[in-house]
Amino acid sequence: MFPLHVYKNRRDRLKGMMPENSLALISAAHETIRNRDSGYPFRQSSDFWYLTGFTEPDAVLIIGPGHPDRLFVRPKNTDQEVWTGRRLGPDRVNTDLGIDEGYPIDDLNSEFTTLLADITSIEYPFYCNNSAGIVDRLVKAEETKSRQENRLSHRADLSRFLHQARLFKSKDEIDVMREAGRISALGHVAAMQACQPGMTEDQLASIIEHTFRMEGSPATAYQTIVGGGDNACILHYINRADKLDSGDLVLVDAGCEVKGYAGDITRTFPVNGSFTEAQAVLYDLVLRAQADAIDAMVVGNSIKSFHEAALRRLTEGLIDLNIIEGPLEVAIEEKRYAAYYMHGTGHFLGLDVHDVGMYEIDSEPVEFSEGMVVTCEPGLYLKKRSDAPTRYRGIGIRIEDDVLITQQGPEVLTEDVPKERSEIEALMRG
Ligand code: GLY
Ligand code: MN
Ligand code: MN
Repeated sequence: MFPLHVYKNRRDRLKGMMPENSLALISAAHETIRNRDSGYPFRQSSDFWYLTGFTEPDAVLIIGPGHPDRLFVRPKNTDQEVWTGRRLGPDRVNTDLGIDEGYPIDDLNSEFTTLLADITSIEYPFYCNNSAGIVDRLVKAEETKSRQENRLSHRADLSRFLHQARLFKSKDEIDVMREAGRISALGHVAAMQACQPGMTEDQLASIIEHTFRMEGSPATAYQTIVGGGDNACILHYINRADKLDSGDLVLVDAGCEVKGYAGDITRTFPVNGSFTEAQAVLYDLVLRAQADAIDAMVVGNSIKSFHEAALRRLTEGLIDLNIIEGPLEVAIEEKRYAAYYMHGTGHFLGLDVHDVGMYEIDSEPVEFSEGMVVTCEPGLYLKKRSDAPTRYRGIGIRIEDDVLITQQGPEVLTEDVPKERSEIEALMRG
């Protein structure tokens, strides 16, 4: 958790942006039951975590200009706590979380009725099912009680303020993201060192995740992707059931979470420690495309510029290797690269791996700005069943790093894991 004033400042900033006479409702995540007494691993809702630092399920934050901040939490319950762990309880909300007032969650309905008297609009993050469901339920209960339709007809999407705030990382957040980058990199180094032909994809994943845990990260930021050979051409391959074969490349896309913040790294390396000639040519092309893209990640450039830089380099390379036909400008115009490069070059990174924040405002792409963290992850995917020359088939390559945008230029937060071919081969030789 950050110091309490960090969360208070975030709430105050948000309230400063909200219209007068509005209230915002932000819900915690709900624990999903897997069966009987067993739940799926719990992960706090990022919006709620950002504003409170509180990691229990089934809580609701209500804030608004001119109002005290209110947090509704599960009440203390000695019997339940024996089974499912300690609860903070409403009485400690103020002391432990620095939030003005704590209430039991069961009081939400009645308190909401009182609060409604003063307000004309309610704000919540629209995409968040939990918050939306709670607002629906509360408003409906109100309407039933007062026998009035549309008692609270004006609803607005809090994301326009909250998600733009989350997009720009503070120094505290950047420090944590550096740590997520450092630990994620260690996981990839461990994978390169341990990889052997005959291991399964899942065994390699377990080495990465073990490293994350041993370094103090409690969770992965997303499901670890380990794909050998042709499996590397499935972008979000999480099956991990196959053996890794000598002579193939393996693509590893894995990142850990630190205090909720994600690392997101991809490396691609030879299962037996040595790149073949065909693999080397394609690998160096992707690496050059990544370098060009990172060079474009400077304050003031359009957010589209790094994708355009990567595309240009990849398309040029695919033409040189006779994988697609030129000339370059026509190939770009006609998207001839798309059979082999079908995704964007990066995304915002933060509390969510595909983080919140707008890429366009009024249909205009935003500019790279200080404090954004953006991944840079060009790739090439030449499936077994493709029109590529035979020697290139069954090769999937992605190289991904996390880049902090600063006035001094792009800063790579994940550089502790090698990506030059010679460095990878040296590390794998041991
Ligand atoms: N790990 C998911 C992605 O790179 O977008
Ligand atoms: Mn990514
Ligand atoms: Mn990734």
